[in-house]
Amino acid sequence: MKLAPALKVEGIRRARSAGFSKMITNNLSVNAPMLIVNRRLGFEARPGLWVMHRTLA
Ligand SMILES: CC(C)(COP(=O)(O)OP(=O)(O)OC[C@H]1O[C@@H](n2cnc3c(N)ncnc32)[C@H](O)[C@@H]1OP(=O)(O)O)[C@@H](O)C(=O)NCCC(=O)NCCS
Repeated sequence: MKLAPALKVEGIRRARSAGFSKMITNNLSVNAPMLIVNRRLGFEARPGLWVMHRTLA
């Protein structure tokens, strides 16, 4: 297993053993590899915050 999923699997294992029943993560919408890692671990996208920019010039 690669480092990113291995770290997340360990985090999930620790959260479960501490009695937590739900876990939230965040993911940049443009970070395709991390989206895949999170989806493979069972995380599902929910409506969330948009980071909005504009120039002032
Ligand atoms: C996010 C990150 C840690 C994941 O690393 P990883 O576990 O080695 O995973 P990969 O980079 O192999 O990507 C996971 C999968 O997404 C796929 N993928 C990568 N880029 C993709 C893209 N642009 N579109 C679609 N799929 C993509 C890979 O092919 C891989 O699939 P596979 O396992 O079937 O080969 C790594 O990409 C990284 O270091 N990114 C930059 C830093 C970063 O974003 N850190 C996380 C911040 S929250």
